[in-house]
Order: sequence, then structure tokens, then C-alpha cells
Amino acid sequence: MKGVQIVGTGHYLPKEVLTNEYFEKIVDTSDEWIRTRTGMVKRHRVAPGEATSDMCVEAAKNALDMAGMKPEDIDLIMVGTVTPDMLFPATGALVQHKLGCRNIPGFDFEIGCSGFIYGLAMGYSFITSGLYKNVLMIAADALTTITDYTDRNTCVLFGDAASAVILTSSDKNKLLGFSLGADGSQDKILYMPGGGSKIPATEESVKNRLHYIKMEGQSVFKIAVERMIEALKSACDMAGIEPSKLDYIIPHQANLRIMDAVRKFAKLDEDKLVNTLAEHGNTSASTIGIAFDKFVRDGKIKRGNLIGMTVFGAGLSWGGAVVEF
Ligand code: ACO
Repeated sequence: MKGVQIVGTGHYLPKEVLTNEYFEKIVDTSDEWIRTRTGMVKRHRVAPGEATSDMCVEAAKNALDMAGMKPEDIDLIMVGTVTPDMLFPATGALVQHKLGCRNIPGFDFEIGCSGFIYGLAMGYSFITSGLYKNVLMIAADALTTITDYTDRNTCVLFGDAASAVILTSSDKNKLLGFSLGADGSQDKILYMPGGGSKIPATEESVKNRLHYIKMEGQSVFKIAVERMIEALKSACDMAGIEPSKLDYIIPHQANLRIMDAVRKFAKLDEDKLVNTLAEHGNTSASTIGIAFDKFVRDGKIKRGNLIGMTVFGAGLSWGGAVVEF
């Protein structure tokens, strides 16, 4: 069985920036509340007409550039997203065309914030099975397009972004451990009720604001801490490494208090926590990829470093991974 390694990383943040002060003007909130309860300072928002596939293409170009590859070198594209350009065709297929790839497969998978780690696991499987050699895995969401800007409980949290990695077949395996899970019984604490087959779009569904994210923040918080710790621990067990021996930990960037709880469980110093949350807020599937790429490009994450990742999201779903960069 062949191994897998990450040869390129990239991310993209749209131009428009929404500051905490912006939210003070539109809902009953404050910069102080947002900073202390979440750790967020700003987020980015797509321009009118800018779609998830456009963000994916920019993140992919950066990852290809780092890998020293061209679009024609890619054998498979996967896009983890809950905000595809359209319900169909797949955003992955649109990216195939926009990026100028050969007629390779391009598809989407939908598992909320857990997309980046589920995507790594799928890329690993496609490559180790021998089916494909070079996989472009993108995790991207334009959550501002499904955010209710009258709901202070959620609107301050979310931003738009894409992150990408190029996974390639290698003699030495560097994707060392995975742990994935889901619990569909908790579907109503984080969801978007309308727009699917259960409640298709109608005048009524729009009037009742069913096409926006609904979240019970505190319930999500509690389960997130437990599941993210468990997922990290299981992925470390599979990799045969103690969490305290990781060079860096990249938790889903959704709340600094959650991220810190995971860091403390792993018995890692503060400088081992990859934290870029203040700069982009919760961008759903892409947060881990953004944080990873930023630290790689800043020269903080170096080749050979062992990185622990852990995530939690709608489903409910969760995942952990241990990666040697
Ligand atoms: N500004 C001011 N006050 C607010 C705001 C706001 N933006 N939002 C909520 N409040 C108020 C609430 O109304 C409540 O007021 P009350 O006590 O008078 O009822 C008070 O603040 C406390 O609310 P809580 O919900 O208890 O606040 P909490 O400390 O739990 O923080 C938060 C809320 C930030 C949403 C937190 O629960 C959280 O981060 N949850 C997890 C979210 C998460 O990790 N999601 C991951 C998956 S989702 C995804 O990634 C797409």
C-alpha cells in the first residue's frame, strides 16, 4: 500500500472585512462581548456574485503553486461544503472547469465544519487504494450567504473562506491517524431547516427565516469540547503518539475557549496552539486548512512537524487527524 503526503497548502479570504464594530451597528452586541466570548476580531464576506467555487479556485491555485504542480497534474477534486454554488451541479465539477483541469472527477461532500478532516481521510483512502495519485481537496464555505443578520447569537460568528491541500502518493506515509464520528440524533442544535427536500423553498419558508443557520451555541459548545478531545485522542492512538508530543495542534477555529480546552487536554504550551481565529472567524469547513496554510507560509510549521487536528460541526459530526507535514 502506498503512503500519502501533503505537498501543497493554500487558502483564500474574500476582500470585504466585517469588524466587530460593524456588528455593534446592526445588532445588540459589543466588541468586548465578541472578543471575550469567542476570540474573534474580524471575518471576511464574499462580494455579490462571488461564489464558493470562485473561492475554491483561488485557494487551489495557491496550493498548486506551493506543490509546484499544474492543474493538469490533478487526478481528483473533492470539495467539502455546505454552501455549494447551487444544489447541483457539484461545486467540485465547476472547479474542474474553472481551474482548467483535465476531465477528472470533481464532486462535493457535505459534513459541515468537519469537512477538512473528513476530506483528508477520503483523500488518503483514494490514494492508498491506488485509484488516484494527486488529489486536490478543498474545504470551503460562504456561510455569510446563510447567516441571519438579525440574530446576534449567530451572525457575529461566521465568515467566508476556502482552504485547499494537494495530497499525493508517496513511499513514506505522512497521514498517520484519523478518527471520524457522527451523531444524527442531535441534528437540531446546529442546522439550516429550509431549502432541502424536507422543507423546500416556499414563500412561507422564506418568511419564517428557515434558510438561515440555527444554532444552540451552549449545547454545541459542551459537546464540541468532549468530542474534539476524544477525536484527537483516538487519532493520536492510531498514529502511536502522545498528544503532548505534537509539534502543533490545530483545532477547528470556532471559539478560543474551546480551542484552549483542547490544548490543555493535550498538555501543550500556548505557543503550540495554531490560532488564526481572530483574523477570519468561524469559516466552517475551511478553518483548519486556513490556520494550517498560514502557519506553513509563515515558516512556523516546518517539514517533519507532527500536527494534531480536531474538529466539530453540524451532523453532529467530528473528526481528528495526525499529520506529519
Ligand atoms: N452579543 C452580546 N450578547 C450575546 C451575543 C452577542 N453577539 N450572543 C449571545 N449573547 C447573549 C445571550 O443572549 C445570553 O444572554 P442571556 O444570558 O441574557 O440569555 C448571553 O449572551 C450568554 O449566551 P450564551 O449562549 O450562554 O453564550 P456563550 O458563552 O455560550 O457563547 C457562543 C455563545 C459564542 C455561541 C458559544 O456558545 C460557542 O462558541 N458555541 C460553540 C459554537 C461552535 O463551536 N460551533 C462549532 C460548530 S458550528 C460551525 O463551526 C459552523
